[in-house]
Amino acid sequence: MRAVLLQAVQEAGALIKERFNGPFEISHKEGINNLVTEVDQAVERLITGIIKTAFPDHGIIGEEYGRHDVQARYRWVIDPIDGTVNFAHGIPLCCVSIGLMDGEDIIMGAVFNPMMNELFFAEKGKGAFLNDQPIHVSRKEDFATACLVTGFPYHFPEGKDPFSAFERLVKKGLPVRRLGSAALDLCWVACGRFDGFWEYNLNPWDIAAGYLIVSEAGGRVTDFKNNPYTAWDLETLATNGHIHEALRLEVTG
Ligand code: IPD
Ligand code: CA
Ligand code: CA
Ligand code: CA
Repeated sequence: MRAVLLQAVQEAGALIKERFNGPFEISHKEGINNLVTEVDQAVERLITGIIKTAFPDHGIIGEEYGRHDVQARYRWVIDPIDGTVNFAHGIPLCCVSIGLMDGEDIIMGAVFNPMMNELFFAEKGKGAFLNDQPIHVSRKEDFATACLVTGFPYHFPEGKDPFSAFERLVKKGLPVRRLGSAALDLCWVACGRFDGFWEYNLNPWDIAAGYLIVSEAGGRVTDFKNNPYTAWDLETLATNGHIHEALRLEVTG
């Protein structure tokens, strides 16, 4: 399964890079800035083809083409391009993300940004890697000097205000970034570039692989109430562990 996962992200990454500067057709889902390009769809078809050829019985949960055979023991959770808006604007902060579930357990994940040639990989219990080198979350303990990243959903959750924590933290002078790719946000926490990340309303394909990569790099991923992360959570908080409670308190106001 490891070989198939790596083959799938590498072939997907090659296609993303080849098509990066267009031309490609762009359409939108609900909302004029919730974009999808023909490349998102082509990449998901490519990945699904590779997985189904190797493992015809495995399940697929993909962003663009939905769910197939989801009663299977093994399910592949696919975001063909995470950071589609960046991709559509020629901003090289986008990636392919694939996680593999055994029942409800995420056991393997890979995230590849072909423009930066950075391939993040983790297998449960075996550590996390960037281009085959082991990675670890940062050692930052002082929340006041932490470097943070967040994202905003296309649709704001009812009754929630995704901006208040952002505003509070920026007003306190903390550097808070918004890259536009939740999978990369998580991987950049895993390799220590960021100390913490939070976002509302992500989907399983945005986080499945990144969750395992952060965990295997020594970090912590929970919802906003400190419950352990599951693939179906709508709140994601991922940190180096040291600043987890401090960031959680800011995010929950
Ligand atoms: C989006 C990105 C973005 C996040 C959005 C996601 P997409 O995924 O991860 O960073 O803020 O919530 O939907 O649509 O580019 O695959
Ligand atoms: Ca999308
Ligand atoms: Ca995504
Ligand atoms: Ca996507």
